Amino acid sequence: MRILVIGSGGREHALVWKLSQSPRVDEIFAAPGNGGTEREGAINARIAADDIDGLVALAQKEKMDLVVPGPELPLTLGIVDRLRQTGIPSFGPDAYCARLEGSKAFAKRLMTKTGIPTAKYAVFTDAEAAKNHIVKFGAPVVVKADGLAAGKGVVVAKNSREALQAVEDIMVARAFGAAGDKVILEEYLRGEEVSLLCFCDGEQAIPLPSAQDHKAAYDNDQGPNTGGMGAYSPAPMLGSADLEKMVDVAVLPALKELASSGHPFTGVLYAGLMLTGDGPRVLEYNTRFGDPECQPLLMRLGGDLARIMLDCASGGLDPANVVWNKQTALGVVLAARGYPHACAKGQVIQGIEEAEAIPGVKVFHSGTAVKDSVLVSSGGRVLCVTALGDDLALAQAAAYAALKKIRMKNAFYRKDIGDKGLRRPPAGFA
Ligand code: AMP
Ligand code: GLY
Repeated sequence: MRILVIGSGGREHALVWKLSQSPRVDEIFAAPGNGGTEREGAINARIAADDIDGLVALAQKEKMDLVVPGPELPLTLGIVDRLRQTGIPSFGPDAYCARLEGSKAFAKRLMTKTGIPTAKYAVFTDAEAAKNHIVKFGAPVVVKADGLAAGKGVVVAKNSREALQAVEDIMVARAFGAAGDKVILEEYLRGEEVSLLCFCDGEQAIPLPSAQDHKAAYDNDQGPNTGGMGAYSPAPMLGSADLEKMVDVAVLPALKELASSGHPFTGVLYAGLMLTGDGPRVLEYNTRFGDPECQPLLMRLGGDLARIMLDCASGGLDPANVVWNKQTALGVVLAARGYPHACAKGQVIQGIEEAEAIPGVKVFHSGTAVKDSVLVSSGGRVLCVTALGDDLALAQAAAYAALKKIRMKNAFYRKDIGDKGLRRPPAGFA
């Protein structure tokens, strides 16, 4: 099999790494890929993840058997629909289904229609009306740009001043461009967050083990929201029995609704859940693997990822082929100082081999490039240092021991990835 993986982050390095272990895979291309995909033996093609014409042309020229879009942008731009016209299967949803992630207003409407529990909300196309709503109902309130904003378009406002500023930034200063044409004001929810990802073949949803992301930039969930600073799996707050229940509540009604609109969902559907005192609520959907959740999750996958992906694409996933090891995996993101805002690139990275000499450790590259044979940083998130261990404490210890081996100037990472899980009594294998 020849496979094209689209994207350039830690998730895509993990996808290339896992797919390359499949006996049926002959060659992998990554577009544009990064230093890690190259080290894994993939051929990096200099085509951006949003260059749909270029990607389709490459898939045709290189006779791909499967295309795996990593990030959301090519999905919302319709790459799966375009590839379908050429007869090339993809692991991912069509543009209609990708709106579940590409428009929060669309996702909210679908959840309300199908009875999926979610925070109360109101949608605004006018900044003044949104501001009046804030003045009337006060804070805390959550302000969300409708469209894609790389995980940065959500502001959890503790007071009205912050909320009004967020509306100003999103709708008036247009910090995220057209993604801010609409804004969603949402009820503030308190609780524990957990990620539920499912392999979907249009009809079935087979859950991956539970995972927990850490979205805030700094320890103790302080600082601005990021794409994710670390993740681990399983998350003790969601045991295996609850995981199955959550699929029924948070995922299957959405799949049914999409299928009845003529758009069966294939690929990964990811529900971001908040476990509140009043029960679970869906905060958002992603229509792809999470980054960094993908890295620890794939370290636990025992099955053949290429086969699972092809079966999802063709509508016949056999749950027996989706198997997981019972260890815990934990990944910590090493980022450039300043992330999620502007930060310096081109810093030399050393020590990866020493880190990977620790048993169970794998270093995934998030934003790296090879320049004159030297590995340098090329993004805000630079590495995701991931480790397997027999329990959460052991996986955490191995990942942090590995981080100590890595040398890069002006880098930072959270010191508390996994701590929330350790404070919980284990709730069985999920
Ligand atoms: P989203 O992109 O919608 O998942 O939002 C990003 C992050 O903002 C989530 O992971 C939560 O930490 C936080 N968040 C989103 N919606 C809410 C809400 N209604 N109440 C509290 N926190 C929220
Ligand atoms: N880690 C959250 C995301 O990928 O959206």
